[in-house]
Amino acid sequence: MDQAIYNKNGIAEGLPQEARYAPTARVFHWIVAVMVLVVWPFGMVIKFIAEDSKPIFYLLHESFGFLILWIMLARVAVRLVRGAPAHPPMPEWQRRLADTVHVLLYVALIAMPIFGFLATNAFGFPLSLFGLIPIPSPVGKNDALAGIFMTVHVTLGYTILVLFLLHMAGVLQHHVLKRDATLYRMT
Ligand code: HEM
Repeated sequence: MDQAIYNKNGIAEGLPQEARYAPTARVFHWIVAVMVLVVWPFGMVIKFIAEDSKPIFYLLHESFGFLILWIMLARVAVRLVRGAPAHPPMPEWQRRLADTVHVLLYVALIAMPIFGFLATNAFGFPLSLFGLIPIPSPVGKNDALAGIFMTVHVTLGYTILVLFLLHMAGVLQHHVLKRDATLYRMT
């Protein structure tokens, strides 16, 4: 990534526009990042919340989670059309690991809301987006399926946690240890 802009200490401080992700890809990335950082913990704490406060937690978790699905689908479309900027020089195994983590994050963040949505419908609680827009579902109440869908949703929750930690390890490696311009591709 020889287009990096360096300061007088030789530390990367930026990248020209053409060496970054497409503007829409960058906006979607940070919107999804913030939403996942809210939706994930909300999902985790629901089981510990007092019964009378649960409905609002369910409503926010499920509604914002459902929005993540559509933003992720839009992200995939942008990524396929606009591609990605070049990686900085790095060992082949690191490039492969980064690419694999990115693909798995796309898959997990699309599958996660789908299985959450299917689970809540199978439990007999159809989603009304922010209490305003009823969302039709391909499955109705079905206790056996509900358990399976929820198990997938929970398993994906821990998978996303591991992928997120690997993603953060990449940020640490490039931005803090190597101090190269990788992070600026997404700013
Ligand atoms: C990317 C989007 C989403 C993320 C990151 C996410 C994350 C999580 C997490 C981490 C949990 C806790 C799992 C555990 O107990 O170990 C959870 C629970 C749950 N999620 Fe999601 N979720 C998302 C989308 C959705 C959607 C769209 C729905 C439904 C429309 C949904 C419905 C549920 C339900 C019903 C629970 C169980 C809560 C409980 O009773 O304890 N989730 N979610």
